[in-house]
Amino acid sequence: QGGKDIEEEPPATLEEIAHAIGACRRCPIGCNGTRAVPGEGPARTRLMIVGEQPGDKEEQAGRPFVGPAGRLLDAHLARAGLDRARLYLTNAVKHFKFVPRGKRRLHQSPTAGEIDICRWWLDSERRLLRPQVILALGASAGRAFLARTPAVGKERGAPMELADGTPLWLTVHPSYLLRLKDEARAREEERFQSDLRGLASSLG
Ligand code: URA
Repeated sequence: QGGKDIEEEPPATLEEIAHAIGACRRCPIGCNGTRAVPGEGPARTRLMIVGEQPGDKEEQAGRPFVGPAGRLLDAHLARAGLDRARLYLTNAVKHFKFVPRGKRRLHQSPTAGEIDICRWWLDSERRLLRPQVILALGASAGRAFLARTPAVGKERGAPMELADGTPLWLTVHPSYLLRLKDEARAREEERFQSDLRGLASSLG
């Protein structure tokens, strides 16, 4: 067997989580033979940003948000005055779910059940980090905090309050922006930027 069982004591450090997720087999994604991608960033941070799951590039690198969506996110964070090196970036689901298509691995969204299973790890990260503010990128990340799938278009732009009082901001996932073209892309990128600026100003 090996690895930490999810019912065992909660992990005491982020390093412990990074190690233990590699052995997690609680859902089918954890059993697909890919490597788990841990969160990244300082243990003392005011902001935790959460994506859906690692993509192809992230799984290869073992780091979150290093592919095309990550580059777009980086550009928007910088523009909004948010320093990636000072925040913690992680995903709702720690393994990469995909379908093979020839030599390519095509992203598949995690199911609600898979997100709910992986929440144990996200909650463990959150308990250790105690961020002042959380940003969820897209509906899957939102679900990981709200235990329901939010309507991002309606619920973005202003924070919700989680049970422990932490403000949760919700916006679209950068992969969604990458799928848009021309004017729609420009318009949606401005909305994304405006969500990030709202959050940045709430941090003071
Ligand atoms: N998309 C995500 O949600 N997370 C990553 O780490 C990369 C792409």
